[in-house]
Amino acid sequence: MSSANPPEEKIPHHVAIIMDGNGRWARARGKPRHAGHRAGVEAVRRVIEACGNRGVKVLSLFAFSSENWRRPETEVKMLMELFFTALNREIRRLVKGNVRLRIIGDLGAFSDKLQELIREGERATAGNDGLLLQVFANYGGRWDITQAARRLASQVQAGVLDPAQIDEERLAGALSFAGVPDPDLLIRTAGEQRISNFMLWQCAYTELYFTDVLWPDFDEAALDAALADYAGRQRRFGRVLEPEDD
Ligand code: IPE
Ligand code: IPE
Ligand code: MG
Repeated sequence: MSSANPPEEKIPHHVAIIMDGNGRWARARGKPRHAGHRAGVEAVRRVIEACGNRGVKVLSLFAFSSENWRRPETEVKMLMELFFTALNREIRRLVKGNVRLRIIGDLGAFSDKLQELIREGERATAGNDGLLLQVFANYGGRWDITQAARRLASQVQAGVLDPAQIDEERLAGALSFAGVPDPDLLIRTAGEQRISNFMLWQCAYTELYFTDVLWPDFDEAALDAALADYAGRQRRFGRVLEPEDD
């Protein structure tokens, strides 16, 4: 890390990333899309390590959206296989690196084998107290809010919750990663300026950062550029921070 890096108090606690551009990275090299996805896994490894070194406490990576099932069957199958092999290979490294892994999303859609590996990865790293790594798979912000609503509705039906008690805090508590502070910084690579159904509720006051860098090219320098940009932001949360001058 260079001396120009922001001071500790300006480092975001929680960084979320929409990892986009694997396909374009491959196309630019005349390679098939899966080559881009594989190169994307290398970028994931780099960014986990770099975030840990910079004092980020929570890293959330959008790996597969609820809508990505709409892709050609062969690409979906390849992504599932890559998820399995990458997870299988990386668990030991995560354990050693003191990273705690959580996979977030509607996991029931995955094969039994993949679900078992996910549980194993979470179990193996559960005692780690370094970086919390949240990988979002078959996740959508709308899915998250919907499952929270369903959860609260069944409590109402069971007679243990009065609808009048449903406030923001209670709804937030029913979301898929309740208890983890909302992201401070959301990075999206590959030039697209949209949320694509990532954390809709949790990004209410998140600082957004868009870069043209394609995900497989995202390296320490690209991360540092995002962190430096974040360090210069003024977060107001609806308040006025300037002293009154009239
Ligand atoms: C992001 O890269 C990876 C996933 C969404 C799984 P893309 O595959 O979306 O890459 P582009 O957007 O086609 O370049
Ligand atoms: C968003 O990327 C989802 C992930 C990075 C997992 P997409 O490539 O699916 O988003 P759109 O379709 O361009 O909005
Ligand atoms: Mg894309």
